[in-house]
Amino acid sequence: MGAQKRCLFSRDEIARRVAELGEGIGRDYPGRDLVLVGVLKGVFIFMADLVRALPFPVEVDFVRLCSYGAGTTTSGEVHITKDVEMSLRDRDVLIVEDIVDTGLTLAFLKQHLASHQPRSLKICCLIDKQERREVEVPLDYIGFPVEQGFLVGYGLDCGEGERTWPEIFVLERD
Ligand code: IMP
Repeated sequence: MGAQKRCLFSRDEIARRVAELGEGIGRDYPGRDLVLVGVLKGVFIFMADLVRALPFPVEVDFVRLCSYGAGTTTSGEVHITKDVEMSLRDRDVLIVEDIVDTGLTLAFLKQHLASHQPRSLKICCLIDKQERREVEVPLDYIGFPVEQGFLVGYGLDCGEGERTWPEIFVLERD
């Protein structure tokens, strides 16, 4: 059984939405000392565009997580394979994630980063995929809400090859 791909968000739609997110975040953190913590690897393109859409410079750091599970779902057992490297204590921290599915990864990460005692801790995700949510995680900034489907492109992959596509596609089985 093969998979067809259908374009869900074009380059222009993504660029417009990222610009809006940047303006919103810029309004909410005026004159603040913001650190963006990106979740590798999927976030690298979104984060690169988002930091350049902000009206002020920020510091960036990254984490890498892995979750053991079968197929395209996570099991809830999340491990950190690369932790943040800067001190987050008393800083305003914004987690930046590519896509939220069950919510298990972000719930784990939020709890982990909260233990670093930041001044504030919020989440910005490009895609809020709602159908399979198992844990409610408050998402403070959302690029695109999507009901379901496996998405690739603009950092998102399904075996690495699709990560560098500039648009976001949904894979559809035929
Ligand atoms: P969660 O813990 O179920 O919320 O899973 C989040 C992680 O699963 C994301 O950071 C992605 O790495 C991966 N993921 C979930 N849905 C998709 C998708 O549609 N495309 C690509 N990766 C996905």
